[in-house]
Amino acid sequence: MALFPEGRQSLTAYAYNMGPAVLYQPAYRFIAADIGLEAGAWLDIGCGPGWLCIRAAAGHPELDVVGIDTSETMLSLAETNKRGRLNVTLRKMDGAQIIYPAGTFDVVTAVQAAHHWTDPGPILAEAWRVLVTGGRFYLYEADPDGEIPADWLQRRAGWPPDAILRRRWRRYGMDQARWDALKAAVAASPFGDSVEDERHGFYRRLVCTR
Ligand SMILES: C[S@@+](CC[C@H](N)C(=O)[O-])C[C@H]1O[C@@H](n2cnc3c(N)ncnc32)[C@H](O)[C@@H]1O
Repeated sequence: MALFPEGRQSLTAYAYNMGPAVLYQPAYRFIAADIGLEAGAWLDIGCGPGWLCIRAAAGHPELDVVGIDTSETMLSLAETNKRGRLNVTLRKMDGAQIIYPAGTFDVVTAVQAAHHWTDPGPILAEAWRVLVTGGRFYLYEADPDGEIPADWLQRRAGWPPDAILRRRWRRYGMDQARWDALKAAVAASPFGDSVEDERHGFYRRLVCTR
């Protein structure tokens, strides 16, 4: 097997797993605790190295968490990170073509994944289809104007300082025009106007109810 089977994409995945994914560990815990699903089924679209799935599943044996991603490298990192946890399943799958039957999941999440989507419509339609009635799809993206709550980050010896993080965060964050385009896509999807635009830590999120 090649060391970097997906070339440059693999390098990016490894860098992400060593950097931001470590730094944001407390954030994944806050998101998991806030959503607070302790039993049932949870789908994470664009799970990357798997940390939200792992934090959501921890201590909740009655909860089954499925993480899907299109990147084999991300999925193999997630497989390592989950350390054999039985209630986390990882699968190579596109959010626009989910193989699960209608009404399978109580919660669907996508954290920092929507900025990759050139056409969110099919993914929104699939999230709606696989949710139970009353289930929620949470879409999180970096908020370029967000405050950085100190306890949402796991720093090493105070590094990186807020000034550096803010600069990076603005670069990664969705500007207002892209955020508005994502909201317009939600409004045009089966979720329609069942959506709330909220701030959560250093994220903006859309909470879409089926
Ligand atoms: C910036 S990473 C975020 C990973 C993870 N959610 C986190 O917060 O650590 C975005 C991930 O979304 C995945 N992705 C993008 N579009 C996707 C799609 N249509 N279906 C499944 N995964 C997708 C990418 O491969 C990548 O791993």
